[in-house]
Amino acid sequence: MSDETDLFGAARMGYVVVESDRLHDWRRFLKQGLGLHEVPADEDALAFRMDDHERRFMIRKGAAEDVVATGWHLRDQAALDIVLRRLAERGIAVEPGSTEEAAFRGVAGFVRLMGPKAMAIELFIEARTTATPLNMLTSGFVTGDSGMGHLAITSRRPEKMLRFWQEIFDARLSDRIHQPLSGAMLDIDFLRLNARHHTIAIAATRGLRLDPIRTRVQHVNMLVSTLDDLTDAFERLCDLGYEMAHEIGQHPNDREVSFYVVSPSGFELELGWNALTVDEAAWRPTSYNAISVWGHRPRRNSRLDRLAINAGNFRRGLRSLLHPEYSPL
Ligand SMILES: [Fe+2]
Repeated sequence: MSDETDLFGAARMGYVVVESDRLHDWRRFLKQGLGLHEVPADEDALAFRMDDHERRFMIRKGAAEDVVATGWHLRDQAALDIVLRRLAERGIAVEPGSTEEAAFRGVAGFVRLMGPKAMAIELFIEARTTATPLNMLTSGFVTGDSGMGHLAITSRRPEKMLRFWQEIFDARLSDRIHQPLSGAMLDIDFLRLNARHHTIAIAATRGLRLDPIRTRVQHVNMLVSTLDDLTDAFERLCDLGYEMAHEIGQHPNDREVSFYVVSPSGFELELGWNALTVDEAAWRPTSYNAISVWGHRPRRNSRLDRLAINAGNFRRGLRSLLHPEYSPL
C-alpha cells in the first residue's frame, strides 16, 4: 500500500499464551515431558523458559483450552511503527496491553489486535531476558532471530489469512503441500517471516471449506538442538502417557524430523529437529504431494480408531459451517 519498506526478516514469533483449566497437567507436560524450564508465576498461571527470554510459554487459568494469544517480536520501533500504520490503514483496531499483562508475558510492553480466527496477535519490541542458567531436560532450543517456533492453523478463509500475514508482515510463501485426507484434499501454505522455513502454516480443505479443528491453532512447533533431545523427549512423553498424534517422521519441505504429541488442551505440540533455513538468493517456491517423506504414523491407527477420528473430524467440520470465521481483513 502506501509504504515501500519490506518487513521481511523484521518479525518473529516471541511467545505463546494458552488458556486452560488443566494447569497441573500442563506443568507435567511442559516440564517433565518437553523439558522446559519452569519459572515462578502467579497462583492461577504457569510460565516457562526455553532460552534467555524470561518467558516463552505461558498458561493462564481459564476455560478456553486453546492458544489465546501469540506474541510477535518486532526488530525495532521503526518496524513496529510500520506494522501499526498498515493496521491503521486497514481499519484494524489496536489496544495497549496492561503493565500486568506485559509482566506475565515477560515483555516491556505490547499492543494487541484481534487476528485471523479471533486469536490475539500481540506486538512487542523488547523481551525481558535473564542470565540465570537454564534448567531443562533438553540441551537447547533453536530460537534467536527466527523466533521460538511456528504455528499451523486450519482455516475456512485461507486467502484472507494469507493476505493478513503478507500485507502486514511481508510474509513470503516458502512452498505448498497438497495432502489427501479422509477423501478430501488438504492444501497447506507455508509462510516465512524470516530465515525459519515457515512461521505460519495455513491448512484448508479444497472445495467445500470445512474446519475440523476445535482450537484456533492445530499445532505449535518448537525445535530442539539435537536428535537426542528429540528422541529423549519422545520417550519421556510416551512414558508419561501422552498421546502421540504422529510418531517421529520427516517433512519433505523443511526436511524437519519431528513428532506430534497431543497437549493437555487438545491441540498438538510438534517437537522438531534439523529444519532447514531458507537462503533467500537461491530459494524457489515449489509444491509437494505429501506431508511426510517417512514416518509420522498415527499411534492410534487401528481401523476403529481411524473411523472414530474421521467421524469426529467430519462432525466438527460440518459444525464449522454454522459459524463464520473471523478475519480482520
Ligand atoms: Fe509443523
